[in-house]
Amino acid sequence: MGLTEDKIKQFEEKKSRLLTMGGEAMIRKQHDLKKLTARERLDLFYDKGTFQEIQLFVKHRSTLFGLGDKEINADGVVTGFGKVNGRTVFAAAQDFTSAGGSLGEMHAKKIWKAMDLAVDARKPFVALNDSGGARIQEGVPALDGYAGIFYRNSIASGYIPQITAIMGPTAGGAVYSPALTDWVFMVKGSSYMYITGPDVIKAVIGEEVTHDELGGAVAHASKSGVCHVVTESDEDCIARIKDLLSYLPDSCHSPVPVAACTDSADRECPELDKIIPDKPTRGYDMKKVVAAIADNGIMFEPHELWAKNMLVAFIRVMGQTVGVIANNSRNDAGVLDTKASDKASRFIRFCDAFNIPLLTFADVPGYMPGTNQEWSGIISHGAKLLHAYSEATVPKLTVVTRKDYGGAYIGMCSKYLGADYVMAWPSAEIAVMGAEGACNIVYRRQISAAEDPVSRRRELVCSYEEQFNNPYFAAGMGIIEEIIAPRETRKRVIAVLDALKDKKQVRIEKKHNNIPL
Ligand code: HXC
Repeated sequence: MGLTEDKIKQFEEKKSRLLTMGGEAMIRKQHDLKKLTARERLDLFYDKGTFQEIQLFVKHRSTLFGLGDKEINADGVVTGFGKVNGRTVFAAAQDFTSAGGSLGEMHAKKIWKAMDLAVDARKPFVALNDSGGARIQEGVPALDGYAGIFYRNSIASGYIPQITAIMGPTAGGAVYSPALTDWVFMVKGSSYMYITGPDVIKAVIGEEVTHDELGGAVAHASKSGVCHVVTESDEDCIARIKDLLSYLPDSCHSPVPVAACTDSADRECPELDKIIPDKPTRGYDMKKVVAAIADNGIMFEPHELWAKNMLVAFIRVMGQTVGVIANNSRNDAGVLDTKASDKASRFIRFCDAFNIPLLTFADVPGYMPGTNQEWSGIISHGAKLLHAYSEATVPKLTVVTRKDYGGAYIGMCSKYLGADYVMAWPSAEIAVMGAEGACNIVYRRQISAAEDPVSRRRELVCSYEEQFNNPYFAAGMGIIEEIIAPRETRKRVIAVLDALKDKKQVRIEKKHNNIPL
């Protein structure tokens, strides 16, 4: 055997040892928990044979607390790049089988390298997290490792799409990398995230709670809003991430992908003509409106379980990705509250950063009243929505389906907040407030002085409704470009987005905006 062959053999042996990660017993334990290993997850994620691993041979250099003679294969994280449905994506997958996927200095530096390459190459970055957190024996270098990731997450924000999947534990400050990325996926039953766990909570404030109740996928998807997508298994999680990526461009400088479209541009949606209920106080499912106008009725809906009064979704129209923001009157009458404002604002900013046009459906009775909302800061949360819409330079199209009242009318992308094009259904009502409330305020004295206050009130309400509870007053003022029959909505949306596709708007030069966070 020649010298080179000998060295190649040695290299192959070393490599195959490293590829075993935490070894058979740990892999079995992982599988028993219905979790895949990092390599198995990456195998599912990447197109067959395209994954190229980087820095497999990196070793930790800590000597403290018995680490000196402990080998941690690949230092507990697999990093690299490959093709996902033919497009390059960079990834880092922590491997719980190797020292609990704990993050030490070198483990972090591998992640840094993958992120730096993703930014320089202008391609998405995906983190598959499964880790016991900062490698306790290493001390401060482990914390600094996180700091370098947070820094990179922040710098890459708005430049390349960043997605995190939580596929195991995530405790303490480790939760902040996911929170700094654009999209957080969690696996039901096997993942959790929290700043302080149940034991500390019990010791400090006496509250008793399980890991899952506190920080499981459903808790974060329905209560905190930290999780955007709940998934059923590792396999489902990977598939959903790939689906989301299919809607997104590689970077803010790359074209938004256009999918092949099998739906028709002329398709009418007759079901929409009947969707507005007879009673103005009755809700309807705005998802049906969004699905009706989307290519083949398909949408990707993040935050499905959180702030359900606001619906955000990616859809395609004629293959082109569009970001939809819509009040859903089926939940809390579609009112604007702190959570709904946050949900919509972050979505709008993501879409604008990545050149995805915005389509807004407004049916909003106003802002949620009450001390709870006021003291939770509805003023500043609502301001985020105004800021996000105003700041966005992508094409902005608004469709008013029914109520569009007061400050919330402005908040749902009205013309003078910067909508390029506003359309209204004949059922639209654009007013400072609903007729009943308005008459109670404006005509209080006349109503109480009338001989028959009930019929006088009815008369006044009718006259107010005639004036404002329709789209014609607003259309007469030029606030609405078109009144359309609901069934025509898809066709009109396609036409307007096509007309606006080369929209360019340049903002005044400055360092950056100061969104009311
Ligand atoms: C070093 C760790 C580790 C860690 C796990 N391991 N977490 N090693 N540092 N943080 C090791 C274990 O010692 C064990 O090694 C192997 O990984 C598997 O862990 P187990 O405990 O056997 O697994 P399991 O029973 O499934 O329990 C999982 C766990 C537990 C609940 C996550 O490991 C745990 O509580 N880990 C510590 C969590 C934590 O408090 N981390 C620090 C958070 S603070 P052997 O050799 O025995 O197989 C933090 C700050 C970040 O992360 C700050 C950023 C700014």
